[in-house]
Amino acid sequence: VRKANDISAEFAFNAENLQTAANILKRYPEGRGRSALVPLLELAQRQNNGFLSHESMEYIAGFLDLHYMQVYEAASFYTMFNLKPIGKNHIQICTTTPCWLKGSDEIVKTCEQELGIKFGETTKDGKYSLSEVECLGACTNAPVVQINDEYYEDLSPEKIREIIKSRPLQNS
Ligand code: FES
Repeated sequence: VRKANDISAEFAFNAENLQTAANILKRYPEGRGRSALVPLLELAQRQNNGFLSHESMEYIAGFLDLHYMQVYEAASFYTMFNLKPIGKNHIQICTTTPCWLKGSDEIVKTCEQELGIKFGETTKDGKYSLSEVECLGACTNAPVVQINDEYYEDLSPEKIREIIKSRPLQNS
């Protein structure tokens, strides 16, 4: 897990993301840029090693002329936003009914055993975090797990074990 002193307290979009943010804002009608809150939070999270620090949310608030609390409300509502440092591989297990009926309990148990962590925790080496999420929208191929930007479907304990072992570490 990244230590607090490894993380710069300051946050500002880098040059590339400033350009990306400007392009995102163009999607919205004049004067409606605040509606870009979610995509800009996602951009900030990607730049900030996978989580939204207090400083990054303050920056977005300033960027969109919103109150910090309005930004925090959105960031804390969606499970796609992490409000604390996260492992390089963020394993998000869907446990909603279709996935549960198709064995998500076994997937959870296998991940917990392989990684030695529970939901909401990160391995000591900072490589993996485990989260429980609601429907990932791929129910026909339940049970489903999302790891960073990738979906893994039709899982079994054996398959998820192999995926964890073979998965290259992101951003390492
Ligand atoms: S219930 Fe798991 S993807 Fe929909």
